[in-house]
Amino acid sequence: MKNEFIDRRKKLGSIFPPNSAVVISGASIQLRNADSSHAFRQDSSFWYLTGFNEPESTLVLYINESQEVQSTVFVPKKDKVKEIWDGYRAGPEGAEKDHGFDQAFNNTEINEILPELLSGSHKVFYPFGKNSALDNSMVEWIKAAKSKDRHSPAIDIADAASKIGNQRLLKSAYEIEQMKKACQISAEAHVEAMRFVKSGMTEQEMEAFYLYEFAKRGGRFSAYTPIVAGGENACILHYVENCKQLNDGDLLLVDAGCEYNFYASDITRTFPVSGKFTKPQLAIYEIVLEAQVKAIEAVSVNNNVMDAQGISEKVITQGLIDLGILSGSLEDLHAAGAFKDFYMHKIGHWLGLDVHDAGDYMENNEFMQFKPGMVTTVEPGIYIPASAKVEDQWKGIGIRIEDDILVTAEGNENLTEFVPSDPREIEALMA
Ligand code: GLY
Ligand code: MN
Ligand code: MN
Repeated sequence: MKNEFIDRRKKLGSIFPPNSAVVISGASIQLRNADSSHAFRQDSSFWYLTGFNEPESTLVLYINESQEVQSTVFVPKKDKVKEIWDGYRAGPEGAEKDHGFDQAFNNTEINEILPELLSGSHKVFYPFGKNSALDNSMVEWIKAAKSKDRHSPAIDIADAASKIGNQRLLKSAYEIEQMKKACQISAEAHVEAMRFVKSGMTEQEMEAFYLYEFAKRGGRFSAYTPIVAGGENACILHYVENCKQLNDGDLLLVDAGCEYNFYASDITRTFPVSGKFTKPQLAIYEIVLEAQVKAIEAVSVNNNVMDAQGISEKVITQGLIDLGILSGSLEDLHAAGAFKDFYMHKIGHWLGLDVHDAGDYMENNEFMQFKPGMVTTVEPGIYIPASAKVEDQWKGIGIRIEDDILVTAEGNENLTEFVPSDPREIEALMA
């Protein structure tokens, strides 16, 4: 494992220019209220390049003239008392030995040592704008580095996020293994939830059920706050109150995925609380499903991210015309964006260490072409709130279907297909 992280750092030698430095900060402990903290989660890019899971750590990579990468890490100091309260700290020695960094220091020494590491570099890459205290420190470190040698070249500052994000986009065999496990755990949880749900239960009871099913399979944390939305709540795209009762006749939209060994999964299924879709629910469901199936087919190296988007928009527009919810021609309505009243988000996003993963969607001023090793979600939806000007039978229906798709050389692999999305299969599972 140590070598996987060392290789990722080495690769940066060919991505960043010679005589440049890259500074990536790890995460800090975040308070929830008063002195109660959230569970610590390392910054994803820091984790990607280090595999080091202690807060308040910083990685500095120096890319030398021959494009070799020299790594330095600043980590929490060994401290007997703190370790009794909060657990083991590797300290600089442990960090060097167990993670293969070229050198490591206590993070208390960062203000003296970091400017020395930057001095002489032509360019410093850093992900600006994530944390204003760090942004300020960065400016101070660069000022201090410049003042060390009046005759050294000027140091430009540039954003590191895009270059590292685009490396993170292409998953290694090891990463794909972790993502498959995350996806399988989440898919199994969705199957169990379809069997478990009953009228009279609450959204939060279902939320707790998912978290339990994730944790018992090794995915202790959710990759994001689950959306557990009964009935019309599904029309609130980021509904996370999860506190209402579920009733017969309601659909339940659940957007929930676990994190496994730092990798996210992201699944949405929409299923009837009673186990049987009503006719109007089924009619809308079939449109979303067709849009999803066709968009998934478009995830291949021959297409770019916008191709799948366009396909989903057209299928949804045509479906809404067929039901009399939109009227006009497909071309005119699509060109006018009429579908946006009912399908207002994009078809998907990159998936990896973050649920909305790093990586660009454009490349050389064109939409990004799919490449083997990328993982994207495909998640079309139709949302018709009670306030919509449509026949009563459609009001309050919100449906999304979301799977996680790995791009391969031959086409793609649906990592979450274990959980059914076909309405007949869902009804059979719930019977
Ligand atoms: N769960 C967040 C999303 O689907 O984008
Ligand atoms: Mn998603
Ligand atoms: Mn989702």
